This record gives sequence, structure tokens and C-alpha cells, in this order.
Amino acid sequence: MSPAFHAAARALLADPLTNKGTAFTNEERETFGLHGLLPPHVGTLDSQIERRMRALEGMKDDFHRYAFLRELQDSNEVLFQALVQRDLPRMLPLVYTPTVGEGCERFSEIWRRPRGLFLSYPNRDRIADILADPALDRVKVIVVSDGERILGLGDQGAGGMGIPIGKLALYTACAGIHPAEVLPILIDVGTDNAARREDPLYVGWRNPRIRGAEYDAFMESFVAAVADRFPGVLLQWEDFAGKNAYDLLERYRGRLLSFNDDIQGTAATAVGTLLSAIRRTGTPLTEQRVVLFGAGAAGSGVAELLVRAMMADGLAEAEARARIWAVDRDGLVLSDIPRLPPQQQALAHDPADIVDWTRTGANAIGLLDTVANVRPTVLIGASGQMGAFGEGVIRAMAAGVAQPVIFPLSNPISRAEAHPADLLAWTDGRAIVGTGSPFGVAGVTQVNNVYIFPGVGLGALASGAREVTDGMFMAAARALGALGGEGATLLPPITRLREVALHIAVAVARQALVEGVATVDPETLTREAIAAGMWEATYP
Ligand code: NAI
Repeated sequence: MSPAFHAAARALLADPLTNKGTAFTNEERETFGLHGLLPPHVGTLDSQIERRMRALEGMKDDFHRYAFLRELQDSNEVLFQALVQRDLPRMLPLVYTPTVGEGCERFSEIWRRPRGLFLSYPNRDRIADILADPALDRVKVIVVSDGERILGLGDQGAGGMGIPIGKLALYTACAGIHPAEVLPILIDVGTDNAARREDPLYVGWRNPRIRGAEYDAFMESFVAAVADRFPGVLLQWEDFAGKNAYDLLERYRGRLLSFNDDIQGTAATAVGTLLSAIRRTGTPLTEQRVVLFGAGAAGSGVAELLVRAMMADGLAEAEARARIWAVDRDGLVLSDIPRLPPQQQALAHDPADIVDWTRTGANAIGLLDTVANVRPTVLIGASGQMGAFGEGVIRAMAAGVAQPVIFPLSNPISRAEAHPADLLAWTDGRAIVGTGSPFGVAGVTQVNNVYIFPGVGLGALASGAREVTDGMFMAAARALGALGGEGATLLPPITRLREVALHIAVAVARQALVEGVATVDPETLTREAIAAGMWEATYP
């Protein structure tokens, strides 16, 4: 064998996209010169899964399982995906929320091999060069974060890369996007998390965050380079903080096929689950009274989609807004509060609306007073504040409604507004509960974006959409709500996520056609055609 042949054999094993490990057949070993590099046993995908499962179960905690799965992904993509897809309810919490939270916090500790791209501020003039890599020729889906608001865990700097990696693993697992077609990107503009910067192991750029005009210019060159290099790519903005999340979405949604998962994906997930819930309670959407705790990206996104859904069901915009109340860190969101962020201005109530409220104190109106006066049928938490839905609040809510719908959406588990078992106890089992992360409590629905983003992405790509419209998210929400759940839960079980993604993709693609943003021939846009394009985790 020539030196080049030897090198090619090693490269085959080193590339997670081509490596089959012990599953290389004898014939393949012969052809590619792999004899000797592998032990003589020829295995199967099943036997490899069995081996990894045993190793996984022998580990001491989920964080180590997470690290183990990350390494597996970096050594053999098919095996990693086959393992994840074989037992999604077991694997999802390991590769995604809640464990991915710790994965981001301790990212530097478990750094092993490169995956995706780190576009750091000092490399701002090299973005086009970095993207020019021919290994990226097939990229169709990018998930990008700047690591500033990772789940409810705040600024994790470069460690935020755990999120794009995790989300894209789910794009492959649920929407069948080929692993060579996904690209996680971490925009490293520094971190304001001093603990990270001072950690000698920290792998990111040790600098306070770049902000303002310099940040904007950097993001502009990023978007321009992406649009130039990957025409038609779908880009998902993920875990950007506050104002940046809105600004980036609005600035670029017309230029790149893109959406913000925290704002729009959460909205469709929560609204879809709510639609499923109200089929149970029998009270129409137009008669619901909703209190949102935490009106940031997720909370306000949910509110806006709810307004849209209520309007589609016949309410005027003002009537819809009158049914939704937001509480944020300064209390009830009222229009006379100075410097309200724009997304909260849209949700603010007039102080005149509350003149006859009973109040427990003279200060800002908190959640308890809001609940006592609004008597909500639905309470949604997106605040990242653990325990914010205390017993007093929940009992006050439960006093006014037969089946309170309560969704503490914040992730990870350490940030959830309530433990679902408490919500059930305080409402004598009457509450219909959905949580962002899995708690393993029977009858509780996991209300997580994983029900929406893979399907939205797949539908947008399949239809060749020029834009991901709000109408496409509404279609996704309705499609999700229509699926309903099994037993007491509101959504299909995690085992059916692939089917859910396909179902949503079909609805999203049809909506793209209706709105005139699709570019493919409508005749080709069938459920079967979309399903046929979904990659399966099997060896070639
Ligand atoms: P964000 O930072 O944009 O919003 C958080 C909001 O909560 C802000 O408006 C903040 O002022 C408010 N807040 C903070 N402390 C508060 C307090 N003591 N009382 C009332 N409000 C307070 O973050 P984002 O993107 O909206 O996410 C919020 C949470 O929702 C996170 O924990 C995130 O993990 C979770 N989330 C869950 C999703 C799911 O699929 N279940 C999807 C997206 C987000």
C-alpha cells in the first residue's frame, strides 16, 4: 500500500461522516485498506448500539453521558444518530435540555475535537475564508448563537456552542437532515461572564462582550458571508439575549431564510400545546384569559402568536390583547412604565384597565395580584425564575377555574417556575401542566421547541421558501395542536417526534405555497416527497 493509501484509510476512520468502526465489512476493509486498523470482529450497527448503551448506562451521571455522546457524535455520526433515535425519550434529555445546560457551562472542560465553526471577533476579517471550506459545500441548515442567553443560564460565551450542536443533532434525528448538511456556529464576541473568562481552561475569547456598532458590523459581515456562501440556507437564531434576538430577526429575516427559535419556535410550541389543551377544557381560545410571567423573547413571542390566533378565531386585535396580561421583572407590564422594551410596549395594558383591582401592596403589581384580579385560565412562565409559581399564586388561580392550564416553560430544570408535581398537588390534580424540560411526572406534557423547529425547518427547505413567515409558524402551531396527545398529555410522545416533524413540515410547506413564498413546483410538494428526502441513520 502506498503512503497515500494508508493516509486515506486513517482519514476514513477519523471522519465521523464516513467512519463505521467495527461495522466496516471485510470487503470494505479490503478495498479501503482498513485491515489491521480495526480489530478482526465485524460488527453490525445493532451490536455497536448495544456496546455503547452498556457503556452509557455504566456512567455515573447524565453530564458524563452527555460528554460520552458528544464524543461518539464526533467519531461516528451514524452510530450516534441511530443510538439517539432508537430511544428518544431516554436520549433527548442527554443531548438536549436539561443536560445540555451543564454541557454549555462545562463546555471548556470537555472540549475534545472541533465541530462546527467558531467565528470570533479577532477573526472578523476572515469569515468568508473560514466559510469557503469545501467540507461545508453541502450545508443546508445553520444554527447560530452568540452564547449570551443560554437556556435560563445566562452568558456562557463560547460554551454556548453546546446549543447549536444539540439543536442540529435534533434536526437530524427528527427532521432527517443529513449530518453533512448541518452546521453549528458560535459567534464569539467575548463574554461578560467573569467566571468563564477567568477559568484557565476556558476555550473562548477572553474579552468582555463586544457590543453596539461593532457587534452590529460583525453580525452584518457574518450574514453577508453566509448569504453569499450558502444561498437558500436555513438559519436558526438561537439563544441570543434580549434586544439582539429581536434586532437580528427583524433585520435579517427578509435577507436570509431564517427564524428565531426562542421567539417564534417557542410561540408555536406553546400556542400549539394550548390549542390541544383547550380542546380538553372545552373553553374556546377567544374566551381564555392568559397571564404570561416573563415577557422576554419567549414570553412576548407566545403573546404575539396568541393574539394572531385569537384574531383568526374572530376577535379584534384590541379584544385579543385585552385577554393577555404580562408580568415581568418590574411587575405587571403597564404602558406608563418608563423604558419598556418594544416587545413589551405591544403587550402593555393601560393603567386605567386596573383602577378597580384589589391589591395587596402599594408597590408594583406582582404575579399574585395579577392572578387574583385577572383570574386567568392559562398561566405561562418564561422568566427563568425558579419557583416563581408558588403555592399562593397557584391556589389563587385554581380558585377561579376548573382546569387551570399552567406551563412553566423555563429551562433547564433548575430554572423552571414550578415543579409539575407541586402544581398538581396545589390544584388537587385539576391543573393541565406542561413544562419546558422533562420532569418524568405522569400526565405532564413536555412543551419544548423540539416539537416545532425541526418541522418548520424541514417544511421551509422542502418548499424552497424565500422567507419563514409568521403564517408558517401559525400553521405549525395549528398542526401541532391538531395532533393532540395520548392519555393526559397534550402532545404526541417523544417517541413520535419524527412523525411530528414530518406532519408539521407538510403544514408549513403548504402555508408557504399559500402565501406565495415557496419556490418549488406545488405538484412535487407532497408528504411522500418530503418523507423520502429524510435521512435515515443507517450505514451506506
Ligand atoms: P429572555 O431573557 O428574553 O426573557 C426572560 C424574561 O424574564 C425577561 O423579560 C426578564 O426581564 C424576565 N424576568 C427576569 N426575572 C424576572 C422576575 N423575577 N420576574 C418576572 N420576570 C422576570 O429569555 P427567553 O428567551 O424569553 O427565555 C426565558 C426562559 O424560557 C429560559 O429559561 C428559556 O430556557 C425558556 N425557554 C423555554 C423554551 C421551551 O421550549 N420550553 C423555549 C425558549 C425559552
